[in-house]
Amino acid sequence: MVKRNQSNVVSVPINIPQFRHDLITWFEKEQRELPWRENQDPYRVWVSEIMLQQTKVETVIPYFHRFIQSFPTLEALASADEQEVLKAWEGLGYYSRVRNLQTAVKEVVADYEAKVPQDAEQFGKLKGVGPYTKGAVLSIAYGQPEPAVDGNVMRVLSRILLIEEDIAKVKTRKIFEEAVRQLISHDNPSAFNQGLMELGALICTPRNPSCLLCPVQEHCIAYDKGIEQTLPIKTKKTKQQMKAYHVLVLEVNDNEYLLEQRPNEGLLAQMWQFPMVEITEVSENLLLPYINEKYQTTGHSIEKLQPVRHVFSHITWELNVVKIKCDQLHDIKQHQKTLSLEEISEYPLPVSHQKVYRQLLE
Ligand code: ADE
Repeated sequence: MVKRNQSNVVSVPINIPQFRHDLITWFEKEQRELPWRENQDPYRVWVSEIMLQQTKVETVIPYFHRFIQSFPTLEALASADEQEVLKAWEGLGYYSRVRNLQTAVKEVVADYEAKVPQDAEQFGKLKGVGPYTKGAVLSIAYGQPEPAVDGNVMRVLSRILLIEEDIAKVKTRKIFEEAVRQLISHDNPSAFNQGLMELGALICTPRNPSCLLCPVQEHCIAYDKGIEQTLPIKTKKTKQQMKAYHVLVLEVNDNEYLLEQRPNEGLLAQMWQFPMVEITEVSENLLLPYINEKYQTTGHSIEKLQPVRHVFSHITWELNVVKIKCDQLHDIKQHQKTLSLEEISEYPLPVSHQKVYRQLLE
């Protein structure tokens, strides 16, 4: 069990050299072949670690290949068109990740001669580089003994070291970082950190961990006590907020549709969508007069398309999708465009609106 002494320093009650050896030996033998493990290019490692936050390895692999093909170097990403970058991320979600990444690589080009800084403080100041990304990139690309603690690593270490702190609390990560600072191999920080990640992915899974196959089972305090399934301790997050919208698929000029760009900040910033209006603002039977007035047009019949539901981290969207053939639209704003189906495919759309778009292609 992890204890703190009077100065609140974590003491780690396992055989540290043996633990390092067992973890690294297992990782070197059992690691998956993954495209970002082909070399230690800090730019590629950085891209992969940003993609892997909140997203599963299998989902990331094809995106990683395509992204690196489109933007093979840090300079290429720095000088790329922002909308093209968003398009390459389309479907991965959490789009601020890639907007921040592009901002950060621009800073690297401007301030560090296009070389990812090896200095932890400099690298950690870049946009979107939090403690996890900093530790992951510096250890994997540059072999520095920095902790890289994400949810998976907290799960693994909460079991091995019997850490019963609530991992939903932001400050808990520091306890784990302190533990990793004591545990990490200085000979091979990259294999050590990736070994913890790989263990979390392949063996020390959230439910039904494969303890009988675990290379560090003999070090695991929770296994010894038979309580591995009760860890980590994680309080429930707040309930999902529901938002219900009409999605207005306004067809004009036979097969052109009105799209609009979302604001520069906030959820799905700068992505493109069919116009939406909250259901609480306009009931379905008043939609036609609403559209006619807003766009000074004449909307003819309403056709209902398949509704769409999309779950974000804190919000769930319930989308009532309606298609309305309209005469000429007026009062089109600067952030709006009428586009053919082919043109729409060039724009970055959120997954929920891609589902609407695909219905138009059918
Ligand atoms: N999850 C986070 N980073 C990872 C990595 N480098 N390899 C595999 N899974 C990961």
